[in-house]
Amino acid sequence: MRSIKTVFLFFIMLSVSFFSMAEMKSVTVKGNAQSPLKPIIIQGPMPIEAQHFAALLDNVVIEKSGLFVFYKGTLNGYPVIVSQTGKGLENTAAATAIAIERYSPIAIINQGTSGGHDKNLNVADIVLGKRTVNIGNLKAPKAPEGKGSNSLTWIPMDIMASSGSAGGDDANKIRYYEGSSALISSAHKVKYNKGKVVEGTIGSANFWNNELDRINWFHTNFGTSTEEMESASAAQISEAYKIPFLAIRILSNNATNGGHYNPNTAKYCQSYVKDVVIQYISDLNLK
Ligand code: 5AD
Repeated sequence: MRSIKTVFLFFIMLSVSFFSMAEMKSVTVKGNAQSPLKPIIIQGPMPIEAQHFAALLDNVVIEKSGLFVFYKGTLNGYPVIVSQTGKGLENTAAATAIAIERYSPIAIINQGTSGGHDKNLNVADIVLGKRTVNIGNLKAPKAPEGKGSNSLTWIPMDIMASSGSAGGDDANKIRYYEGSSALISSAHKVKYNKGKVVEGTIGSANFWNNELDRINWFHTNFGTSTEEMESASAAQISEAYKIPFLAIRILSNNATNGGHYNPNTAKYCQSYVKDVVIQYISDLNLK
């Protein structure tokens, strides 16, 4: 008699836990369906690198924070926000943090123009940032007065190294930020007819390099394909918040092979990135 009771109780407990599990599952599903779609953020530094994309959006509402402008809209019915960050690392880092806090994006793409470090890349070719790296994070070895300065002897410095000031050995290394493999694979599916699309390393600093020996030094030691002034800071902040990130940079100039500056490249890049965003939305089944 006692054992029948125990078995009966056991079945009651089992079915209660089964139903509460089923309920938990249905609550979770309901929660996802109700929560708003998370936007994709597209960053561009200068007006020529953001406003063409903003004009491709539907239902645009403009929001401002400080000097930063956000064009909130939709692309094929999915929420997309174009962020005009301004030039340089500081502006871009701030605009990235504001965008993450305000809009909880599902992914961030930093796009715009750049200057080639690779002789095999031509103006209008596009580099997908498999890696981005801050090429201004450097430390000079000691040199006495009167000995001048030689940037080719400088040592990489990892500003995210955990301990101490910039003096520790653990800080003498290059820190790369990996681009999102899902975004890269969507980007590869998109057709582009103004040049090549390659994967590479994008170097950022508030610096415009024109000395060929220094450009070659970065190409050899950091593996850079191209340089600009923003992507590495957006990558750093995106990584801090674990947001999938990709830098997509078109060459507007290339000092290593005489590639002259072409301002139309800013528009080519935005048109390409628009197609990447549409592809990504479809690949991730976001809609
Ligand atoms: N070096 C540095 N920045 C460049 N840019 C385009 N070409 C280069 C280059 N060769 C981009 C930067 C910045 C603006 C000056 O143009 O990202 O936004």
